[in-house]
Amino acid sequence: MEYNKIRDGLTVSKIALGCWRMDALSDDSSYDVVQNALNHGINFFDNADIYGNGVSEEKFGKAWKRTGVMRENIYILSKAGICAEEGYYDFSKNHIVEAVNGSLKRLQTEYLDVLLLHRPDTLYDPEEVSEAFEELYASGKVRFFGVSNQNSFQISHLRKFVKQDIIFNQMQFNVTHTNLIDAGLTVNNYFDSAIDRSDGVLEYCRENDIALQAWSPFQYGFFEGVYIDNPKYEKLNIELKKVAEMQGVNTSAVAVAWILRHPAFKQVIIGTMNPDRLSAICEAVTVKLTKQQWYDLYKSAGNMIP
Ligand SMILES: NC(=O)c1ccc[n+]([C@@H]2O[C@H](COP(=O)([O-])OP(=O)(O)OC[C@H]3O[C@@H](n4cnc5c(N)ncnc54)[C@H](OP(=O)(O)O)[C@@H]3O)[C@@H](O)[C@H]2O)c1
Repeated sequence: MEYNKIRDGLTVSKIALGCWRMDALSDDSSYDVVQNALNHGINFFDNADIYGNGVSEEKFGKAWKRTGVMRENIYILSKAGICAEEGYYDFSKNHIVEAVNGSLKRLQTEYLDVLLLHRPDTLYDPEEVSEAFEELYASGKVRFFGVSNQNSFQISHLRKFVKQDIIFNQMQFNVTHTNLIDAGLTVNNYFDSAIDRSDGVLEYCRENDIALQAWSPFQYGFFEGVYIDNPKYEKLNIELKKVAEMQGVNTSAVAVAWILRHPAFKQVIIGTMNPDRLSAICEAVTVKLTKQQWYDLYKSAGNMIP
């Protein structure tokens, strides 16, 4: 495994395990996935209060306890701000604080290393978020804070009010989901890809030392399916195979290496619950892509550069 230092006291594995899909697993299977991730040097686990309606956090909590790993040797992230059952977003102080308290209980831990605001609540009162962060930080319940799925203006507004550093923005990104870079590659052109769907947030994050984390590295569209070995992405798979054969890894590892080759992306959050697949994906850190290979892969997924 390779690691990126995000801040003092937070040096994270480039590949993190996302626990969204863990609710479907038995206790034994979730233990196997977490233990296998640890064996590969993964030290970062991505959770959210809403995953499996809390069941995913419970499964992960049981699993990491069973591995016997010391709490200070892993990083646990969770997210708050979505009321999934009710169908709205809520960044009120009460909601954020109570969501964290619930996560801590289910995860069987006294603190989160990172709390992310999950999806922007357009009705939010930034002073309430500031008070929530202040309380959670002062009580030792949260060490670091960040956001997910936010654009540059939203992050900039939030940063005016909160005392704590915003260290992460977690966004969907992979070779088939490239909104974050398309407009930057086609600035001032007439192509559709020049339409900025993310308000320059990748550039904003780089400028402000906010690390990007990529979620759903293998899904195309909004959870329409996996692009690996998918006939919809024939050219891309041919290109992935070419590199995979050269580097002695599988195509999933190359797909993750493609994300990590971008300097803004400090972490990829993978969601497989299959230990063998996880082992193969971790080979991504051994893959060094040339610029030629990187751009060829980008284009083979249907993207263009002028
Ligand atoms: N911040 C946000 O808004 C947000 C949104 C969504 C997700 N996330 C985070 O991102 C994590 C990853 O999301 P995800 O699970 O959608 O990511 P993913 O790694 O793109 O997808 C994993 C899923 O694809 C399946 N899969 C099938 N073929 C595969 C292949 N060749 N290689 C890899 N996976 C393959 C896996 O099945 P097997 O289990 O059978 O391998 C698993 O169900 C989540 O766990 C969550 O922590 C965050």
